[in-house]
Amino acid sequence: MFLNEALKSILPEGKEFEILHLRSPSIECHPLIAKQTSSSDDSVTVKTQHLFVLFHNEKTIFGLEIYVYINLKAVNSSTQDGERVIFISKADTTGHADCKVNYRSVTKVLIEYILSLDPNSYLQKVIPKRFDYGKIDGTLITKKTSSIKALRILANRNLPSYSAEPKSQTQFYNSYRCRANLETKVCLFTRPAPQYLFPESSKNPNKRVIDGDRLLRWWLSILDDILLETFQEDTKARLRIPGENPTSIRRYLKDVKYGGWEVGDIFGTKHKDTAIYHIPLFPDDPKARFLRQLVEENRARKTILETFWIELQNRQEFKLSVTVSVIGIQGLTAVKSLQRPPPCDVILSSSRKEFNAIKRYVTGENYDTAAGAREAYLNVRDYLSVRRNQKMMTIVGQFTTGCKANDRDSSSQRTVITANTLQPRKKLKK
Ligand SMILES: CC(C)(COP(=O)(O)OP(=O)(O)OC[C@H]1O[C@@H](n2cnc3c(N)ncnc32)[C@H](O)[C@@H]1OP(=O)(O)O)[C@@H](O)C(=O)NCCC(=O)NCCS
Repeated sequence: MFLNEALKSILPEGKEFEILHLRSPSIECHPLIAKQTSSSDDSVTVKTQHLFVLFHNEKTIFGLEIYVYINLKAVNSSTQDGERVIFISKADTTGHADCKVNYRSVTKVLIEYILSLDPNSYLQKVIPKRFDYGKIDGTLITKKTSSIKALRILANRNLPSYSAEPKSQTQFYNSYRCRANLETKVCLFTRPAPQYLFPESSKNPNKRVIDGDRLLRWWLSILDDILLETFQEDTKARLRIPGENPTSIRRYLKDVKYGGWEVGDIFGTKHKDTAIYHIPLFPDDPKARFLRQLVEENRARKTILETFWIELQNRQEFKLSVTVSVIGIQGLTAVKSLQRPPPCDVILSSSRKEFNAIKRYVTGENYDTAAGAREAYLNVRDYLSVRRNQKMMTIVGQFTTGCKANDRDSSSQRTVITANTLQPRKKLKK
């Protein structure tokens, strides 16, 4: 599945768009879920961030932020098993599109694209939690190298005997391997907000902000299609609305097509289990904020899952009389061969600093008028051109009303994502 192929099938016919798909470097991080025992275990969690930004007529129109965690269970064993956790963090629009774009389809295609990626593509050049400077080759310059030694190393590099073998890859990064088709969890917290990624965009009268109820149905319809098209048949799909009883929650599941939807969540099965050992800590997530509060109040080890959900609903962010929900999917994808993202599909940032700098060009503007949406586009375009000699991918939409690509009924057929790396790089517009 190529990003441009997938997007052009759902973007309006004849209209030109550009997409920024920015990926952070992979870094080792703390486990998503606290460990029950303090004994050392050799599991590793690798975190990568994706940011998709869609532009039309040189203006920012849509953004989607996704985190992917690969949790490897036994790093030192030959068969590295584990799980892939996809946390859908933020989706937002600016209201500055000059044509009608179906953001539901855009969001669905982007999540399917992430699901089509081989988890091994995140595990090649992983920044370790801590560098062991003692083990790094003496001919490389690190933060710990003194100025005199660094000058000596640089001088030696001019000697004919110096071999410029690329040592840094193995010296500075870790790399792992895992099974391609890991069990996958998709986690999402639905809560409407005037804006998430685009400051002041809610002041744009053309932006459509949907309420909590519609937002929940919007996400359910996206994930329902993904379950039918991309996951195997025995996949778990769960919906929890803190503060709502199961009968009311079931009302939201009346129209779904996938048969496996149930009321609940994918974070532990027994009510009496301790919450902190089952609820993952995602960035900027209300569940994680509540868990941190429990730690501060010294109640983390005493709060069971049942109490956790009851108390969570009383927190301010859940009490604003808007529908908020927690959605989870857990299963194996129906993927024949997962793909490594072709280089033309992704801008791989060299560091977290660079990732955040490019992201700030998008999230640092004011979107109440089209000027901010345009400024963000120009800044991203110029940064990529000047600093990286790269361009965003151009997509010309092919979707016409009545096209099958957008038809929910036609999608109930389970499709198989196949990788194809032979696609030539698209010549970018001058
Ligand atoms: C969530 C959000 C991205 C959805 O955007 P959207 O424009 O409603 O999404 P879509 O393009 O998929 O449109 C949804 C439906 O409304 C219809 N629609 C779109 N624009 C419309 C308009 N101006 N008037 C009436 N209907 C419209 C679409 O045709 C579509 O109908 P369908 O579901 O039958 O196909 C948008 O409301 C938003 O940016 N919200 C603010 C941030 C937010 O709350 N994010 C959620 C994070 S969890």
